[in-house]
Amino acid sequence: MPADPVAAATHADPYPYYAALRDGPPLAWDEKLRLWVASRADAVEQVLQAHGALRVRPAAEPVPRAIVGSPAGEVFGHLVRMNDGAAHEAHRPALQRALAGLDLNAVHASALQVAQRVQQQPLSDTLFSMPVQSVAHLLGFADDALPQVDRWMRDFVACLSPLSTPEQLRHASTAAGELMARFEVLAAGNAPRHGTLLAAVLAESAGDAPLSRSLLANLAGLLSQTCDATAGLVGNSLIALMREPSLRPSTRTRDGLQAIVEETARHDPSVHNTRRFAAEAVTIAGTTVAAGDTVLVLLASANRDPAFNPEPDRFMPVRARRRMLGFGHGMHACPGQALACTLAAASLHTLMLQRAPDLDAQRLRGWSYRPSVNGRIPVFH
Ligand code: HEM
Repeated sequence: MPADPVAAATHADPYPYYAALRDGPPLAWDEKLRLWVASRADAVEQVLQAHGALRVRPAAEPVPRAIVGSPAGEVFGHLVRMNDGAAHEAHRPALQRALAGLDLNAVHASALQVAQRVQQQPLSDTLFSMPVQSVAHLLGFADDALPQVDRWMRDFVACLSPLSTPEQLRHASTAAGELMARFEVLAAGNAPRHGTLLAAVLAESAGDAPLSRSLLANLAGLLSQTCDATAGLVGNSLIALMREPSLRPSTRTRDGLQAIVEETARHDPSVHNTRRFAAEAVTIAGTTVAAGDTVLVLLASANRDPAFNPEPDRFMPVRARRRMLGFGHGMHACPGQALACTLAAASLHTLMLQRAPDLDAQRLRGWSYRPSVNGRIPVFH
């Protein structure tokens, strides 16, 4: 059993533990972590809907202390993911509309091309590079810039984790500065390439002229939101194929791959939890959460709630009605869900064709998960 609900994200099999939590109260106090834990789907939805009282950052620390005043802190402080109220509303609609307007068939075709050109590197790194470089391409970066943008983004995302070392945070800040400068050039150049995600976001933000630092930060945020989460989705989909040989024939079609990715996002998702911080007292499922309290929201547990998905522990690529909370819910729900699944399916297709991994041998060699408080991203041995 995992030591606690945070350690569950990187545990080999946290699902029996999540089931035991769901048998307890809808909001349970964890004395060791000193926070409330929501594990059932209905409680998770209630917490994520209470966005007036429950915020995405603690009021006293909108930007983590370790990066305040640095370029990484500047980007972090602008991200819609990390803000409520006006700063959230300023860019969320434009990002959402631009992402909703993507032609997913065209995205899939371009993601296949980008994935094929990704440099040779260990499989566990390729999981990141394929989707990140695909989104950088969609945004409008030139092909020869993609590997560098990918490296900066890998460095930058360290600032989103409380487990990062001071050295990783320094690299994150350098990367944040470089990325902001590159986005500035890209966005200010002669009209951004038609059809790019950048052009779509700019068109949706027509009021935002001259281009604000906060919009630039949110453009970089599209890459950081892609990075760890989509790498985990590709990696966990590969693990599903390792565990269940009967799934392998369906990887021959795009629909088959898409179904495997979507069921993985429900069954063994890459983002296991998120947090909310009470700005004022609020009652959730009959329990009062006091101002200043923290709620740990177990998205991965909610996906396996039998009241939410029948036969939740079975991996079923074809489900009558697949319900998911792994992409969040309510005001802050992920606007990149469809894009993420398309990119993951294209990455998986390329990995299976190009790298032809021996899934049975890899299963025997095994894997572990990268240290994280919320992400489930495999490192293959
Ligand atoms: C498998 C991949 C992904 C997963 C599992 C994922 C999951 C999530 C989750 C759980 C949230 C909400 C967090 C919270 O409420 O606390 C979120 C927010 C967000 N995601 Fe994703 N995401 C993925 C990929 C993407 C991609 C590819 C993009 C865009 C390129 C994206 C853009 C965003 C943005 C902009 C937000 C902030 C929304 C807001 O706060 O209003 N995500 N994501």
